[in-house]
Amino acid sequence: MCGIVGYLGLNDAKEIILNGLKRLEYRGYDSAGMSLYDGENKTFQLFKEKGRIVELEKSLTTTKAALGIGHTRWATHGKVNRENAHPHMSSDQRFSIVHNGVIDNHKALKTMYFDNHAFKSETDTEVIVELMALFAKQMPVPNAMRKTLKLLQGSYALLVIDHESPDTLYAAKHRSPLLLATADDGMIIGSDMMALIGTAERYMALEDETFLQMSKDDATIYDLDGTVLPYDMSVFDMDVLHTEKGNFPHYMLKEIYEQPTMLRGIISKFFNGNTINISQMLLKSIKKHNRLHILAAGTSMHAGFIGKGLFEKLTGIPTEVHIASEFAYQMPILGDKPYFILISQSGETADLRACLLNLKKKQYPTLTITNVITSTLAREADDALEIFAGPEIAVASTKAYTAQIAVLSILAYALSCQTFALKRELSEVAIAMEQCLDNVDYIDDLVKQTLTKDHCFYIGRGNDYHVSLEAALKLKEISYIHTEGFAAGELKHGTIALIETDTPVIAIISNDKTAQNTRSNLAEVHSRGAKTLTIVFESLQEPGDEIVLKNVNPSLAPLLTVLPSQLIAYYAALNRGHDIDKPRNLAKSVTVE
Ligand code: F6R
Repeated sequence: MCGIVGYLGLNDAKEIILNGLKRLEYRGYDSAGMSLYDGENKTFQLFKEKGRIVELEKSLTTTKAALGIGHTRWATHGKVNRENAHPHMSSDQRFSIVHNGVIDNHKALKTMYFDNHAFKSETDTEVIVELMALFAKQMPVPNAMRKTLKLLQGSYALLVIDHESPDTLYAAKHRSPLLLATADDGMIIGSDMMALIGTAERYMALEDETFLQMSKDDATIYDLDGTVLPYDMSVFDMDVLHTEKGNFPHYMLKEIYEQPTMLRGIISKFFNGNTINISQMLLKSIKKHNRLHILAAGTSMHAGFIGKGLFEKLTGIPTEVHIASEFAYQMPILGDKPYFILISQSGETADLRACLLNLKKKQYPTLTITNVITSTLAREADDALEIFAGPEIAVASTKAYTAQIAVLSILAYALSCQTFALKRELSEVAIAMEQCLDNVDYIDDLVKQTLTKDHCFYIGRGNDYHVSLEAALKLKEISYIHTEGFAAGELKHGTIALIETDTPVIAIISNDKTAQNTRSNLAEVHSRGAKTLTIVFESLQEPGDEIVLKNVNPSLAPLLTVLPSQLIAYYAALNRGHDIDKPRNLAKSVTVE
């Protein structure tokens, strides 16, 4: 989703912003732009292009800039084209702006203030820069900015430059993330830690309803009434090496391969001998409640389904999983002592933020489980647990899913009085993962033979069904093969009508109680022409099974059974020649509702 970088200082803003935007490419975007102040010629220049950042790079004519703002756009209002790309400039040419988020009342503001004005773009952003220009005719720029911000409804992270004041950068934040950092000889501001890598020294996340004015040496942060707010910065310690592909052709493959090591890392973070490193206060607080509600979206929600099974089995506490975007506006009956667990790789998902704000208003207790412990959801929930997956750059989530399940299993275990050796069981999973990763060429061959159609089904029962949902999501999002995950027994109640000659159906079988039922469902589709493929545990293997996995503890089976499905998605996308790390239409961090 949209990305923002701004720099003001003695180094070259053009290079710093370009590098930042390149690091934000993983978030998904469809156009990019920059506004730069050329100190030598004392001019501002605006550049924007549809498509990839290389196109923008080719168009840049500024040699060196002291101040600049840059943006990658993921279209929400208006088509993907140059006009709608950011930055937007006010019609009097005084201000340039980049914006992440959505201004819900942009149409009303246009009607109220600019009845006959011909806007150049279809975006909800352009009205902000016109309001700034309008008010700046009557008052100092900071006041004009505050007046503008008070009119906006919705979400924003904005950077604004006043072309009459090249030694100042203005920014504002509400419900879309924005990070401010000191840099070598300047200040940098960006929408994501990744944008700051290689430049930032100390950093902080801005709070909602704040705006700031920054020079090359300093920044002053205000609330919307103009009161100066105190702030504190932390050392920026994200290592550039962790964000590079190394010898892998794609981030997604690298991240798939990282899972066994990552799992061992999670074990060492959470286990101290056999004691679990989760605060007793947090555990006590959860135990006081009689119903857990897991809120999440997409892949994280699929991890939540596995978490539900673990909590119910290990703690006996009834647990429900909710789609965040539904829960935000349709809160169901919750029970008398509900506890909320928000799962989010990025910690910035707007649908979850909408839920969290509602929950906080009602003073319900909340825990965020996330990969980014500095994220908005981690900061704003009562408690946070980090999943320690390391940076996940590929848009399609792989290692974050397994890390989330691992941490959910540790939390469920810590809440229970179970005596099984979770630490050892998780280590066994890491070994079984490595064994599966030794056979990737075989999986590539199976994909070439089996996934010959534009439709596919994954089926399974219990946890295997929940992994089927995730497996289907992974396959469709990067290979664009239309795929559904189905409860194996449910297919015959209607959807089996879609099975025709060579429709691929992949069954996940890890549970001895339901293995035969799933096999019968597979036989039903096979006899109607489907091309079938199985992912099974060794102990349940039958002649003809294709992908056989080492047995692991059945409660932890999803950590392993998902792995071949990630590889299937990867090879299907590779064979179809798709942009694996940046699939079409998708964004890594979904910061709009
Ligand atoms: C799919 C994927 C998405 C995310 C979803 C939630 O591969 O990554 O479905 O899981 O957008 O994002 P987070 O976990 O950041 O809240």
